[in-house]
Amino acid sequence: DGVKGRIDFERVSFSYEGEQGEPVLKNITFTCLPGETLGIIGSTGSGKSSLVGLIPRFYDVTEGTIRVNGVDVRKIDPKWLREKMSIVPQKTTLFTGTVMENIRWGKEDATCEEVEQAAKMAQAHDFLVRTPDGYEARVGQGGINFSGGQKQRLSIARALVRQPEILILDDSTSAVDVATEAKIKEALREYAQGLTCILIAQRITSVMDADKIVVLDHGELVGIGTHESLRETCRVYQEIFQS
Ligand code: GTP
Repeated sequence: DGVKGRIDFERVSFSYEGEQGEPVLKNITFTCLPGETLGIIGSTGSGKSSLVGLIPRFYDVTEGTIRVNGVDVRKIDPKWLREKMSIVPQKTTLFTGTVMENIRWGKEDATCEEVEQAAKMAQAHDFLVRTPDGYEARVGQGGINFSGGQKQRLSIARALVRQPEILILDDSTSAVDVATEAKIKEALREYAQGLTCILIAQRITSVMDADKIVVLDHGELVGIGTHESLRETCRVYQEIFQS
């Protein structure tokens, strides 16, 4: 239903434990509404991965509050957070085993149909069925026998098979061509009425059709809005756009 998947950041600051000096995130406030797609953009080291890592509590905020569906994440059952939130990390983590096992990882009771459905959305189904073994193909150590873009699509399929309320893609389509990336986003929009999606990206084309985009610069939120509004008003966004 429509009330799931809301995220609120309220004056969030964050430093890694034991680190002196400037916080990694400074006084960040924004809201992501249920079913919205939120883009996050900013130069390397601006704090994008750190920001999303706070939501499933890989780390805890130093100051401020993060709420999911109105509840402080520190008061939410960690099991719920793990089940309802899927993060596709920057580095894919495939293991030796079959493709089927890799996609099912974390939701071992998923049916073959559910795995296939997730793979279709992630645009992995087509290349899988073109190989002789399909879903039973062996994945070599670290996914060595797949291209970078294919590994990313398998990782996205793995996240989707869990039917999350919140999906976080941390630069997860960087090795996927622009046309395929567009198909993945289209499939998410179709399937994902009600799915809240956070997309970290390096390239503007990956986030420009998001409902809103957060622009980070040295741990500060320096802009939030649509592509059009940021293009007019946000200097950092303009710089990324022109680069
Ligand atoms: P890219 O992934 O390169 O685009 O960067 P990002 O925008 O995602 O920034 P990220 O959140 O990874 O890093 C922000 C700052 O935190 C940088 O100064 C990092 O060096 C630092 N940082 C990131 N991860 C860790 C960590 O695990 N421990 C410590 N101590 N610092 C970290």
